[in-house]
Amino acid sequence: MAEHHLQPVTQAKIDTVALTPLSASPLGWISCVLADFDAFMQDHASAEKKASGMALSMVSHYPDQPALVQAMVDLAVEELNHYKEVMRLLMAKQITPAADRKDPYVTRLNKLVRKDAAFFLLDRLLVGAIVERRGAERFALVAEHVADPELQKFYTAIAKSEERHWHLFVQLARDLCGHLPVDCRFCELADLENALVAELPVRPALH
Ligand SMILES: [Fe+2]
Ligand SMILES: [Fe+2]
Repeated sequence: MAEHHLQPVTQAKIDTVALTPLSASPLGWISCVLADFDAFMQDHASAEKKASGMALSMVSHYPDQPALVQAMVDLAVEELNHYKEVMRLLMAKQITPAADRKDPYVTRLNKLVRKDAAFFLLDRLLVGAIVERRGAERFALVAEHVADPELQKFYTAIAKSEERHWHLFVQLARDLCGHLPVDCRFCELADLENALVAELPVRPALH
């Protein structure tokens, strides 16, 4: 198999002691994914492409924040590399990529972003962190349960990468929005996200 070159955006370990823990995904989620893994991979490809676009939109919105711009440019490239790798796997399996669809989970979380300029950056960074944290959990579940050794290796690498990303978003929030109650807001959003994943129907998709 081809080497997976997933370059880390940040190696920084953050202190997560004060943050609301992630709930476990519903038990049925992984069996639903394994029952239609082609559909899961199609959705995964879309999710990586959207993650790259989201990082670039942050650059467009905050061109005057050099630390943010640098981190988001690196992130956009890394997510695009994830997209490239998933597309390579799809093509090798002769699976046709699917059209992008609205992700109800992401739509609901984006509604929690306060539009007021004082909170907009904080909330976007923290919703980014929350989405990446759930992604890290779910990709690790896939790595643990999928039978194909190539996919096991790939999803283990992806899970580690998404783990770094949620830490990156929290670190950026603490660095750039430290005048606001960052950890407190993270916990509010994490409580809502934990409730949301329990409520949404399971699909053969990342969310
Ligand atoms: Fe990714
Ligand atoms: Fe990511």
